[in-house]
Amino acid sequence: MTGDADERALAAEDRMTDDERFSLLVSVMGVSDLITVRDERIPDGTPMSAGYVPGVPRLGVPALLMSDASLGVTNPGYREGDTATALPAGIALGASFNPALARESGGVVGREARSRGFNVMLAGGINLARDPRNGRNFEYISEDPLLSAALVAESISGIQAEGVISTIKHFSLNCNETNRHWLDAIIDPAAHRESDLLAFEIAIERAQPGSVMTAYNKINGGYAGENSELIQGVLKGAWDYPGWVMSDWGATAGWEFALSGLDQDCGCQIDVLMWGAEAFGQSLRDAYANGRLPKERLSEMVRRILRSMYAVGVDRWGAPPEVDMARHNEIALEAARQGIVLLKNDGALPLAPDSSPRIAVIGGHVQVGVPAGTGSTAVVPPGGYAEVIRVGGPSFMGATRNLYLLPSSPVAEITKLLPQAQVEFDPGMSPAEAALLARRSDVVIVFGIRVEGEGFDSADLSLPWGQDAVIEAVAAANPNTIVVLETGNPVAMPWRDNVKAIIEAWYPGQAGGQAIAEILTGAINPSGRLPVTFPADLAQTPRPDLPSMGEPWGTPATIEYSEGAEVGYRWFAQQREQPLYSFGHGLSYTRFDYSDLLVLGGDTITATFAVTNTGDRQGADVPQVYLTGAPDGARMRLLGFERVDLKPGESKQVTVTADPRLLARFDSEAGQWRIAAGTYRVALGSAADTLSLTAETALQAALFGR
Ligand code: GLC
Repeated sequence: MTGDADERALAAEDRMTDDERFSLLVSVMGVSDLITVRDERIPDGTPMSAGYVPGVPRLGVPALLMSDASLGVTNPGYREGDTATALPAGIALGASFNPALARESGGVVGREARSRGFNVMLAGGINLARDPRNGRNFEYISEDPLLSAALVAESISGIQAEGVISTIKHFSLNCNETNRHWLDAIIDPAAHRESDLLAFEIAIERAQPGSVMTAYNKINGGYAGENSELIQGVLKGAWDYPGWVMSDWGATAGWEFALSGLDQDCGCQIDVLMWGAEAFGQSLRDAYANGRLPKERLSEMVRRILRSMYAVGVDRWGAPPEVDMARHNEIALEAARQGIVLLKNDGALPLAPDSSPRIAVIGGHVQVGVPAGTGSTAVVPPGGYAEVIRVGGPSFMGATRNLYLLPSSPVAEITKLLPQAQVEFDPGMSPAEAALLARRSDVVIVFGIRVEGEGFDSADLSLPWGQDAVIEAVAAANPNTIVVLETGNPVAMPWRDNVKAIIEAWYPGQAGGQAIAEILTGAINPSGRLPVTFPADLAQTPRPDLPSMGEPWGTPATIEYSEGAEVGYRWFAQQREQPLYSFGHGLSYTRFDYSDLLVLGGDTITATFAVTNTGDRQGADVPQVYLTGAPDGARMRLLGFERVDLKPGESKQVTVTADPRLLARFDSEAGQWRIAAGTYRVALGSAADTLSLTAETALQAALFGR
């Protein structure tokens, strides 16, 4: 198939005129809240979206219609009244540790995209959660490259299985939003290969995304879109990536980006706003005319685009797919269920379904619905948002910064599941008022929410709008207090010791209210595990003060990612710091036991062990295998995991085989991965800081890959 795609791309490109070639290199935004005039390159009748690229009808090359993105088909004002399944946040999918669920979620996105005629989904956000303030962490998966790659690869495969091209993004190190267009991300190249780039490398190997989207920021001094070392050296060179490299929207400063490996300029109208001209417009044609853009490079740019089109099959669409929106809602519900993490439970949960307690439900606009993340990933759910409360903020992203409430009310869902209970809502507007209801209730469920999203990093880890004070007040008024967080990132919990239970539900998607109620009442056994570390304090992180935080949008910034590959739990292990809650942490209403760990070495590490449900109800667990010691320097690496669903008393044998790159260091001199001979220590645990069984094995020296 791919050989065929290469041959077809060569043949089609060879028959093109130069005009046709150039037309494939620019993606034009449709009319929306941001772009109010339709570009004449977009034919009448074309559904408006994030990007349009004309095809070449005489050669059977379809136009490319591009839409966002990972959490569903977005519609920020492009198509009047169009809605789509609003999946839970990517970080919730990360908490499921469930690649099969990621694939199902990708299928939802792919089918709903195709039913609208979109053949490119700008999905596959895989940037590592290096910084717990990063506004876009909700869109991504995790702080760990293996977990991120394992899930993003399946999500991309789910989209592409529907004949829709998926991107993977943002290549690379778009790990903060503050002044992202003027940010220079500095990192040791070998450490980059062992962290963010390893996530891209594994996901690209497994899923072959049709396109890679470069990031807004610079990396080690050069803009991502013109970073020849990364695009030509690593992506197209070492990894032999055959697809095409597109820019982020308005991220192409000049035609010269084409000489460094960028194949397509997207969001070209924003180029004009940011840089004064369309980078791949007349100036690229002029460069070609005066010989500065070689014909061979022009042909390669086009062939890469065509090759992905043929490999994924966007030219071979038959009848539109059957879109079962009820089924898609079930997948959204399952993703919410599996993404919810029970962080603390001093016996307050689950709520007994047949009791008739007085239950106070406080805050979080939970009488209306559940929050979603903001920016280009925000999806308008079926029936539209329950409410949009404007928040705003600096820069052009301020217009997209709103409290979007999806119509899935936790209050309504809790009431449905606890018919005998007396459920009463308080808006959580004032600590004193909330405490009055708490005082005369048997159980208090208080919500904490944050509006997080593209274009913004949080200034700290606190809950906004005085929610921490409300939680403190209700916990003081009633010790039987349960906190439910709906956030896109870790948050501080000054009230942690004063509450009986804590749940992190993230942005739980269009069925999130139901999922939260099911976990609270025990209808569903929580199984989520943290895909990111919850720091006790920003002082524990590599960068307590974020460079240029608070500076005006447009201020140049430099972030030295001096932690290198030691991201998240890896950093906490290296620094011997104890976080609030660790990567991999999550409680259940049952218990699990691990036994019979056997570790074999050689050219990689294989660990086998048994997991047993020793409790009295069905539940899913995610045992994790870590590297905890190596002959060439202490380091911690997640080597593997498996989500296992077990009945009471049931056991399952699990085998984890490590990708050798997780055992190796990247040798920049050699340009290869190097495994040092010697003894390697492995641990099996339920979280990065809860390791129950350990073993050692020997590995032989190896030098491999590129
Ligand atoms: C945005 C985002 C990118 C998105 C694109 C199109 O600014 O950075 O993730 O796909 O533009 O909306």
